[in-house]
Amino acid sequence: MIDFRSDTVTKPTQAMREAMRNATVGDDVYGDDETINTLEKTAANLVGKEAALFVPSGTMGNQIAIMVHTSPGDEIILGQGSHIKNYEVGAASALSGVGYHLVPDDGGHLEEEATLRGIRGENIHFPKTTLILSETAHSSGKVAPLKTLEVIGRIAKDHGIAHHLDGARVFNAAVALGEDVKEITRHVDSVMFCLSKGLASPVGSILAGSKPFIEKARKYRKMLGGGMRQAGVLAAPGLISLNTMCKRLNKDHENAEYLAKRLYELGGFEVDLTARDINMVFVRTKTHDLDMIANTLEKQGILLGGYKGDYMRLMTHNDIRKEDIDTLIEALHAIIQ
Ligand SMILES: Cc1ncc(COP(=O)(O)O)c(C=O)c1O
Repeated sequence: MIDFRSDTVTKPTQAMREAMRNATVGDDVYGDDETINTLEKTAANLVGKEAALFVPSGTMGNQIAIMVHTSPGDEIILGQGSHIKNYEVGAASALSGVGYHLVPDDGGHLEEEATLRGIRGENIHFPKTTLILSETAHSSGKVAPLKTLEVIGRIAKDHGIAHHLDGARVFNAAVALGEDVKEITRHVDSVMFCLSKGLASPVGSILAGSKPFIEKARKYRKMLGGGMRQAGVLAAPGLISLNTMCKRLNKDHENAEYLAKRLYELGGFEVDLTARDINMVFVRTKTHDLDMIANTLEKQGILLGGYKGDYMRLMTHNDIRKEDIDTLIEALHAIIQ
């Protein structure tokens, strides 16, 4: 199968499978798993934070961050199009008991004026604003300019509010900006990023922040049932993600650029150039029937996903080579002829 549905579909590499086989393990709830301890130290250093925690998923990492930063009844500020608002099963209200104040994030980042206006003042009737959530790279495929994150970070600091980053694809964002990832993460108090997407690990995400923040996060991870035992077998590929896979993400971005160009050349596919920062390509078509195309391609071993009506998202990743893009384009060409 050639799978363009998402970068979550990546299979662990051969090196990862070897590392899993040979991993030193221990009971991580006792702090005994040396591979996890190394992963957490490496991850914290990479994003410039004091400490880090290995968690089973990005959703759990984000939700633990919200649990640590807030108390029930508080209000959090987040983007209308954010993953936490739209795709985490309403967990922030269910688990942390917080209300949402939504601000526009069409540009791939929180609108500054709207964020500022969203902060509640001192009034006996008001909930307390305790957290601002940013997301980059945004699920819309856009990367926030550093300046914007800096401004949002400053607003949070000036008001004594925590700033958390849903950085599921923060290393893609860093590549797109041509910056070290620390230039992004220095504007937030805590960050979650995924090992299991473009970084190709089979499982896992990282939550990073100050030592006291991670101490509380470790307790909440246990509360949610995310305390794992000999999970060094999962942390071992995570180390390869951090030491090796981070450095090859530019290839996925180049392939996405190539895919966008080839799709445009086919005719009838309009590439959304405003969302062309990372390994995602969004296309709209008024001429072609996406349902028919996806069904026909599936029979040929090519998977498209993330399409709704006339709009489709394709993603490149470690298991998509340039030749696979040529195969897709040839197959598409034959269908739409
Ligand atoms: C921006 C963003 N945040 C969080 C997540 C959640 O990650 P997970 O699927 O590991 O729970 C995703 C997953 O696609 C994502 O795209």
